This record gives sequence, C-alpha cells and structure tokens, in this order.
Amino acid sequence: MIRSRRVLVVGNGGREHALAWKLVQDGAEVLVAPGNAGTACIAENVPVAATDIPALLELARTREVDLTVVGPEAPLVAGIVDAFAAAGLRIFGPTQRAAQIEGSKSFCKQILHRGDVPTAMFREFRSAARAREYLEAREDMPVVVKADGLAAGKGVFVCGDRATALAAVQSLAEDPALAAAAGSILVEERLDGVEVSVLAITDGRTIVTLPPLQDHKAAYDGDEGPNTGGMGAYCPTPFVDAELLAEIEAKILVPTVHAMRRAKVPFQGVLYAGLMLTSQGPKVLEFNARFGDPECEPLLLRMESSLLELLDAAVDRRLESCPAPTWYDGAAVSVVMASEGYPGPVTKGQPIRGLDAAATLPDVQVFHAATRLTDGRSVADGGRVLAVTARGTSLARAKLQAYTAVKEIRWAGAWCRKDIADKGIDREREMLAAEATTAETIS
Ligand code: AMP
Ligand code: GLY
Repeated sequence: MIRSRRVLVVGNGGREHALAWKLVQDGAEVLVAPGNAGTACIAENVPVAATDIPALLELARTREVDLTVVGPEAPLVAGIVDAFAAAGLRIFGPTQRAAQIEGSKSFCKQILHRGDVPTAMFREFRSAARAREYLEAREDMPVVVKADGLAAGKGVFVCGDRATALAAVQSLAEDPALAAAAGSILVEERLDGVEVSVLAITDGRTIVTLPPLQDHKAAYDGDEGPNTGGMGAYCPTPFVDAELLAEIEAKILVPTVHAMRRAKVPFQGVLYAGLMLTSQGPKVLEFNARFGDPECEPLLLRMESSLLELLDAAVDRRLESCPAPTWYDGAAVSVVMASEGYPGPVTKGQPIRGLDAAATLPDVQVFHAATRLTDGRSVADGGRVLAVTARGTSLARAKLQAYTAVKEIRWAGAWCRKDIADKGIDREREMLAAEATTAETIS
C-alpha cells in the first residue's frame, strides 16, 4: 500500500492551523510542532518548539516526513531551512540568508535598491546619536523610525513630526529589547495611502502571485489604538484589481526575486510584500519571508486547488510547469478573537465555549491561534486566540457569516474588532456607484 504523504507543519498559530487544515484536505498526513488545540483535532501535535531546530530535524527523520512547511519567521531566521537541506530533508521556506529580507530592514533595502523596486526613501544610522543629528538638521516632516532587526512588531514608529521621531530614537536607544534589534536605525519617508498585502510563492526563479489581501493591524475599530500582529484580514481586496496586481508582480515581486538570485541569495518560499498604494503607485513597506497571520487563513479558505502540489513544486524548483492555483469565486474574511488585555499582557486558561456551534455554520472555519487542550477542552492560551474565518459569494456576505460565528463563541474577556473588511466593502460600493454614474452618462 502506498502511504499518504507525511507533512510536518512548524508553528502553533492560526496560520499553522490553516496550513494543516488545507494540507489534510489535500490528502496529507500532517504532524504539527508544537500545534494547538485546533490542530490536535485534525492532525497530530508533537510537543517540539518551533525554534528547536535539532529536535525538529530528529522528528522529521524518525517520522519519515516528506515535506516540512515552516510557519513563523523565528525558525527561518535561525536557519531551519539550511539545517534541513544539509541533512537532505525537503523543506519549504527561505534559507537563513534569504530570510534576512524580513529579518533585516537594511538588507531588504539593499535588495530593493538592486532590483530598482519602489520603496520609501531612507537613511541608515549606526548610532542613535547620528540618527538624532540627522533629524535635528533636516526639515520637520513625517518620518518612520525603524530598528534594523526583528523586534516582534515593536521596532517601527510612525512619527508625525521631529519631536515624536526624536522620542522614537530615544526609546530605541533605551529599551534593551529594542536596542538588541536596532543593530542600526533607519529613518524613512512616511508613505501615505492604502495598505495592502500581496503574497507570492516562489522557487527562486518563477513566482506564483496569490490573490491580494488586506490586514487590520491596529487593535481597535477605525484603525485606532496600538499596533498588533493583525486583528483580521480579508481576501481578495478590491483595492487591487487585476491590472494593479499585474503591475505589483512586474515591478515589485519579480524584480525582488531576481535581485535576490543575482545577489546569490535565492529565495524559495513565501515572499510577502507589505505595500502602500501611494499616489505614485505601489511601494514596498516591508517584506516578510512567510505566510502572514491572519492573512493565511482567508487565503487558504479560498484556495480550491492543492496547496501540497504547489509547495512541492516550489521545493523541487519546478513552479514553471505547475498549473496555476484556482480560487473560490467569492471572498473570505477572518476575524481575530483576542483575550482581554491584548496586545499587552493577558491572562490565560479561560475555557472557550461555543466552538461546536460555530463549527456547524456553513462556510465557516474556526482556526485556533493561541489555544491548548486542558482536560479535553479548548482554553485560551495567549493574546490572539482564534481566527474565525468564513467565505461568502461577496465580501459583505463573508463578513456577515464570520461575525455570525463570532457571536456563538465566548470566554471571559473575549473581544474582537467589529469592522473587519469594512474598508473593502466601502470600496466596492464606491466602485459600483462610479460604474452606475458612468453608465448613466453614456446612456
Ligand atoms: P513594517 O514592520 O516595516 O511593516 O512596519 C509596520 C507598519 O508600520 C506597517 O504595516 C505600516 O503600517 C507602518 N509603516 C512602516 N513603514 C512605513 C512608511 N514608510 N510609511 C508609512 N507607514 C509605514
Ligand atoms: N499580519 C501581519 C503579519 O503576519 O506579518
């Protein structure tokens, strides 16, 4: 008997639950390390941390894993792909050097420069004193102050004026956690416009661009409040039509992949472009070296073709001959349900009620983001607890269905944003109104 393909998914968030869910549908037998209560229901959780590379290698060897898929950035930046490749094991994701496109903003800017890819103008400083001098000397205008390295989303300060920018440099210099990330400090021009995400799967040569998305990074409705890992996402976003997606592919994704290959740092994996749609066209805010979370959840809920085949083709460097993925011809919306206190400290361990009722709703998948099983029950185990995801024939219907599922679920202190996908729904309405006006004028 031919055994089914065995795939190891590394990580424990909503993204990894969505990856495991999709790979199971594609016929794979899935292990998740370490996984959460959601992945435990559909796959086999193995208690190995996502950053314990030697233990993950051992796991892949002893369990005869055919393909490993890495969710989060930390193991990528720590070199998991290099270690697996050296051991002759198949793994989907960029090498340690290539993951610097996310891990080092300075490296990212060098690649963008080589590829002539549009991005914000910037200056890099080796010390806080130099950054301060520069800010004092230049015209007082909005800037963004960034730590060079990974800072768990805390290393970026969008500043309206010089005083705020100086304060940001000060906190980078003073906060020991941030100072470690701030090998150098970047001061860049603030870009204005609508923010969107476009992800592509690449084998280092060929790229497969995935449908455009929009994340919601601010904690509260109306994009108010502190920055988070993402409070919700939807796909596709009407802010990027087919023509603009083709432009993003041609002017941003393709030149970046080629620039990395020319720099002898070929990129295999998911290249995630965080973009600002400015009045001068799309510009890169950042690159990530992985699927976004929660972006991955609505994306995979819409994917109809096999993810496994696509990832296999990327790992074997034959994306060029792989059929293009196909997508559900509607929309998907993912609403993050968070614990009280997020993005600050949260209490853990509250039992989650209503998961079964939510699961019976049509077109709904509740992906677990920070949960664990205690006495056979799912309990909250972190800040972003669930990514409640639904699809529908329109964005408005998908949103309605996602929030219908949210209403079924509760635990002490649970909350979510109420306006996920509204920007996209408003945009669609505007486009329809504009079309109607044009039709009237013509007739
Ligand atoms: P990053 O980690 O570089 O993506 O930055 C995090 C967030 O900061 C982005 O999602 C944007 O909302 C914002 N941001 C970063 N760079 C800029 C920029 N140059 N102009 C405006 N907003 C920015
Ligand atoms: N949701 C943003 C990220 O995954 O980076």
